[in-house]
Amino acid sequence: MVVVEPARIADAQAIHELVTHWADRGDMLHRPVSEVYESIRDFKVARIDGQMAACGSLHIMGPDLAEIRSLAVREDAQGKQLGAAIVDACLEDARELGLERVFALTYRPGFFERVGFRLANVMEFPQKVWNECVRCPFFTNCKEVAVVMDLGGGDEALPVVREEAAP
Ligand SMILES: CC(C)(COP(=O)(O)OP(=O)(O)OC[C@H]1O[C@@H](n2cnc3c(N)ncnc32)[C@H](O)[C@@H]1OP(=O)(O)O)[C@@H](O)C(=O)NCCC(=O)NCCS
Repeated sequence: MVVVEPARIADAQAIHELVTHWADRGDMLHRPVSEVYESIRDFKVARIDGQMAACGSLHIMGPDLAEIRSLAVREDAQGKQLGAAIVDACLEDARELGLERVFALTYRPGFFERVGFRLANVMEFPQKVWNECVRCPFFTNCKEVAVVMDLGGGDEALPVVREEAAP
């Protein structure tokens, strides 16, 4: 049985291990365990028969914008719509909060397009770029692709500048 629900504090270590698993393979950025604890209320998890199999978080960036971060599905649980279910749960939260746009920076833009996002120009999210990306060691050589879901209203899109990275 699959359940998608808000993470509990007891999930933090497993979330950290799952994110680290994919980050070590270059599929996403590392998150220190301290950051997972600090943002545990942002996280959703999917459990299969009680075992955590996927996670992801919705991080609020400002009055109209949030970011999906740390989306990761256990290797043996991929292709079962868990990634899509975590994204749905994050979007539901975003709608309830009245946010206008949800974006992600990802090496898997094809997945996000499949679940309803569109490719974007990262400069649509200057608060991300100038507050966080500038501190990232990959800033000058970033291969992540910006994707966004417009939930209502929102600014006009800027032209897309990046192509999808090879898987
Ligand atoms: C990318 C990831 C989150 C997808 O999760 P998943 O649970 O395997 O995907 P789902 O089963 O929910 O897929 C939903 C749909 O997206 C499609 N899809 C999944 N991964 C895809 C990809 N890389 N490119 C294009 N489409 C993809 C699926 O085929 C499915 O389509 P369908 O509805 O027609 O069947 C997962 O592979 C993962 O954790 N990867 C490693 C970490 C990572 O890359 N995270 C991405 C955020 S940085």
